[in-house]
Amino acid sequence: MQKIAAGNWKMNGLSNSLSEISLLAERHATSDVRILICPPFTVLSKACDLDDRTEIGAQNCHISQSGPHTGEISAQMIAELGATHVIVGHSERRAENGETDAIVLKKSTSVQQEGLTPIVCIGETLDQRENGQTLAIIGAQLDGSLSSEAGKSPIVIAYEPVWAIGTGHVPSMYEIAQVHEFCRCQLKQRFGDTAMSIPLLYGGSVKATNAAEIFALPNVNGALVGGASLKADDFSKIITALEDA
Ligand code: PGA
Repeated sequence: MQKIAAGNWKMNGLSNSLSEISLLAERHATSDVRILICPPFTVLSKACDLDDRTEIGAQNCHISQSGPHTGEISAQMIAELGATHVIVGHSERRAENGETDAIVLKKSTSVQQEGLTPIVCIGETLDQRENGQTLAIIGAQLDGSLSSEAGKSPIVIAYEPVWAIGTGHVPSMYEIAQVHEFCRCQLKQRFGDTAMSIPLLYGGSVKATNAAEIFALPNVNGALVGGASLKADDFSKIITALEDA
């Protein structure tokens, strides 16, 4: 299984941050980990032009490839730059932009149509976890966010509990392992053996200090990292933990 360390810079980073990407590439030149950085759209083109092994992704795209959608950016446009991945359905977009599973499905489909890999984010809120609804919510999000054809092209799933994002709170290792195993089973039921090669990332307050124990869990194939991906020094330690896993 491919190991993936994906950094989501969110609304952070100007041109002078791109040196962090080059530093990562230098430090992990012979790594067996796929290293991916998703910077903001404003520096996406420059990031794609960097001549190194770090893959570049976008943080969002429109459901359509072109048309009268002022201010929007399509998967086709992202593909033209040379990016390889697009994050879809991040909980911040679900919460701030009203993205439903149905919209996430359309976005992940348009990403795959352009030959890019969607990183489909799912995760429960604290209320949902405290009410014992975690697996039901995860199951519904997986079902609703992926088309029946989704298993035929590369796709990545990121389990990101909403309450763990940017908070410093992380589920117990048991809880992470339980959700990842559940995701693997759900994907298997839907897509058969293909599901065994769909990378499952954990996201939410991954740091150098907790990365090794998270990566030791079964069915955890890497991480989607926010805050700790902004500086090469921090992200590099997480990548090293994944290399050693
Ligand atoms: P965090 O964000 O690592 O800062 O918690 C993760 C994410 O939102 O993808």
